[in-house]
Amino acid sequence: MTSYDHRKYQPFQSIAMTKRRWPDRVIDKAPHWCSVDLRDGNQALIEPMTTRQKSRLWDQLVKIGFKEIEVGFPSASGHDYEFVRDLIDNGRIPDDVTIQVLTQARADLIKKTFQALKGARRAIVHVYNSTSTVQREQVFGLDRKGIVDIAVKGAELVRDCAAQQPETEWVFEYSPESFTGTELEFAVEICDAVTAVWQPTPARPVIINLPATVEMSTPNVYADQIEWFCERVSNRDSLLISLHTHNDRGCAVAAAELGVLAGADRVEGTLMGNGERTGNMDIITMAMNLYSQGIDPRLNLGQMDEIIETVKECTRLPVHPRHPYAGELVFTAFSGSHQDAIKKCLARRDGSEPWQVAYLPIDPADIGRSYQEVIRINSQSGKGGIAYVLERDFGLQLPRWLQIDFSPTVQAFAEAQEAEVGSEELYQLFQQTYSEADGRWALGKYQVNREAGVDKLQAELLQGSTMHKLSGSGNGVVASFVDAMERFTGKQIVLVEYSEHALSHSADAEAICYIQLNINGDRYCGVGRSHDIIQASLDGILGAINTEAATERGAAA
Ligand code: KIV
Ligand code: ZN
Repeated sequence: MTSYDHRKYQPFQSIAMTKRRWPDRVIDKAPHWCSVDLRDGNQALIEPMTTRQKSRLWDQLVKIGFKEIEVGFPSASGHDYEFVRDLIDNGRIPDDVTIQVLTQARADLIKKTFQALKGARRAIVHVYNSTSTVQREQVFGLDRKGIVDIAVKGAELVRDCAAQQPETEWVFEYSPESFTGTELEFAVEICDAVTAVWQPTPARPVIINLPATVEMSTPNVYADQIEWFCERVSNRDSLLISLHTHNDRGCAVAAAELGVLAGADRVEGTLMGNGERTGNMDIITMAMNLYSQGIDPRLNLGQMDEIIETVKECTRLPVHPRHPYAGELVFTAFSGSHQDAIKKCLARRDGSEPWQVAYLPIDPADIGRSYQEVIRINSQSGKGGIAYVLERDFGLQLPRWLQIDFSPTVQAFAEAQEAEVGSEELYQLFQQTYSEADGRWALGKYQVNREAGVDKLQAELLQGSTMHKLSGSGNGVVASFVDAMERFTGKQIVLVEYSEHALSHSADAEAICYIQLNINGDRYCGVGRSHDIIQASLDGILGAINTEAATERGAAA
């Protein structure tokens, strides 16, 4: 038995707005960022961070370039209290970074918060109380006035405590917690009541943070809420409107982006979206979304792997391989058509043009990723990807006809393995297929003489311990050898394709030769490589003949 029944739920009421302005806007600059990793993120962990982990994450956040960092809830947690003291007492807060701490709007907690912040150069005191109908009616059992009183009393005490510690430059922040479940006119009323106490000015603004404590609607509705609020709140020019979205519906980033369009100045979130339940808004994704539009995110995310390592170590949570921008697989293409398109775009790319590569929204190199991971081979991969990997890692420039020939072999191999085919494994498969085939015949000594414009070839063909003597003639060494092998095998052999190049990956200038023969009506490919181009060509021919022999024996078996 399950209670699975959608009729239990009600649709979120849309906002009555006739003229929305946010849909016509574009984001053209980064908002002020505030990392709440060390508070909201930490509060959501199965095992909260140790002091060492908090310190490591703090250093990483500073390195990324956050200028505002919520470092904890010092009145509620002894560890957070000590951590705040450590930052202040040990001079670990750079001059251009401001710490932020959270407190409920309760007298004892506010006093302890100010104690924790003694001696700070600059600090944001973030005070909140819950304002939604559900919280008012079911959790606190208070009417609107009761809730406003809590906020105002809290604001007054914050103001008074700050006045007693004038050595610190104070910034005040108020959150009507559960804003998205709060009637909008009440949200405006309570924020106005708080700012009436704090008396902000454009030079000394107050932060009003409007959290989607629980994400309850589509992001456009959140944007409507923000625009509606911004249009009606008092002293708008003395406020920094901040967003704090959670990801219950999977749209926290979208909500924050639309919220910025709707007039917000600031965004709170965490790295990789760690946070309560489904997490906070992921700052990495939002910042990289800006970056990929040519907007400076004012965060340095160029060392993505280092960031991921830190987050994983500190939160003890994994990072999904498909996490936007950061996941291990996000720049990888397995599908043949994607690989083909990427390969072509990368080959045509001239570094001075704007980035335009199919299937790659940004250049992986920008965040410290290599092109090695872009194209990987499995059973979905096509000839383009296979050729790309062989060229990238082994310097082989497979002609198109050989790509077409090799691709089904790789596909069959990957399917049989039920796994990705690594680059080295791919190369071994290539060798086995075209250079070793079944190793039936190998070329021994050979000699070519030119008589009356015709090349005459004498060669030894080795088969285990047996040696066969061959002779053939033709226009050139290749044609003479084909002729010799025709005589020896009694089969009709026609050279269909021939291609060669020097191996740039090989220090001693080896040549590689790709051959396609038509043997009794079917096509077979072979590859030879040697310091001597003639030897490489003959080995290639023999590779194709060996492939045919192996196929014939396979069919007979
Ligand atoms: O999600 C939330 O509402 C919060 C507040 C305390 C800002 O974390
Ligand atoms: Zn939160």
